[in-house]
Amino acid sequence: MNFFATAAKNTEPALRDELRELGFEGVRCDRGGVHFRGDWPEGWRCCLWSRIAMAVLAPLAEFEAPTPEALGEGVATVDWTAFLTPKHTLAARAVCRSSRLTHSGYVALRVKDAIVDQLRARCGARPSVNRDDPDVSVFVRLANDRATIALDLAGAPLHRRGYRLDGGPAPLKETLAATLLRMSGWDRRAPLADPLCGSGTIAIEAALWAAGVAPGRLRERFGFERWACHGEAEAARWRALRAEAEARAAAATEFEIVAGDRDSDALRSAEANARRAGVRVRFHRGSFETLPAFDRPGFIVTNPPYDRRLAVEGDFHERFAAFLNERAGDTVALLTGNPALSRTIRRKPALARTLFNGDLECRLLVYPPRH
Ligand SMILES: C[S@@+](CC[C@H](N)C(=O)[O-])C[C@H]1O[C@@H](n2cnc3c(N)ncnc32)[C@H](O)[C@@H]1O
Repeated sequence: MNFFATAAKNTEPALRDELRELGFEGVRCDRGGVHFRGDWPEGWRCCLWSRIAMAVLAPLAEFEAPTPEALGEGVATVDWTAFLTPKHTLAARAVCRSSRLTHSGYVALRVKDAIVDQLRARCGARPSVNRDDPDVSVFVRLANDRATIALDLAGAPLHRRGYRLDGGPAPLKETLAATLLRMSGWDRRAPLADPLCGSGTIAIEAALWAAGVAPGRLRERFGFERWACHGEAEAARWRALRAEAEARAAAATEFEIVAGDRDSDALRSAEANARRAGVRVRFHRGSFETLPAFDRPGFIVTNPPYDRRLAVEGDFHERFAAFLNERAGDTVALLTGNPALSRTIRRKPALARTLFNGDLECRLLVYPPRH
């Protein structure tokens, strides 16, 4: 299989590095994600172990689709009975770029209809559609009139790890938090703090990574487990992959990760999320200035309020810049949607990258220590 793990814009190189580290074959960066090769269990392993991928797609067919008829015929070349029966539920979604068929909703509908028609012709009954929680999730990409039809292995997006029930007013996606940690250059051993932790996503993802815990460990089920072709042999192979992840989680090592916030409600939800994730994070209630310094060079990775979803106090930027000056021995990585903050810091970052927090355009700024 040639899989495609999808990544948020500008995070493709981070995902490529991660997949190489995880030992996947044929890892190659592309726009919107990273290709890799392997048998089906390699796709499942990616769902279980990638911290950065948003979805893992298995392309089943690729063909020219300038018209609705060509799209339907291309979809019909796949044997869909391998993946679903009339008892399964189904959903299709599409993205379209530079193509004659421009309406993604219509493209998804045509693809769904062609699958349903095949099932009805071969099995005498049709599967129903479930947009919220389908057994089989089909993804269609139409670019320059060329269609790629893929299955989404995970079903629900991979950022839904299962530990965060309460995200608070402005949570980061877990996949974005893991991306910031990797792009900050953190070695998983140096002490790390998020002094503006909100629901604790950055600190929890750091603790999971440092401990070598599979990010998908708490997910009850992935989409592929519900497919028709996931029989006893596949289930046994999948159980073995999960058992290996459990064994690694049990062997977790010591590390120092601190999460602070001045808001008691935020801290309570961060504590509950960390408990559910099964990680040890030290919590600190108070303004960022009161966070104790590390006894050796460490990392501060954080996502300050942007003044959009959360208001910023009048002198926040000046105080935060002063705090970072005091922590001159630490590497600092900030995801900020507010250019006023970087202007106030008045230091040249070693890395500045445009990233997206949902639809908010942000900058990841990484400041090296000053010796
Ligand atoms: C953008 S949110 C962080 C969201 C977080 N990354 C998450 O995934 O939930 C910023 C956080 O900074 C906190 N905050 C604002 N001013 C603060 C201060 N002076 N000291 C400590 N925390 C502060 C807010 O309470 C809020 O939880």
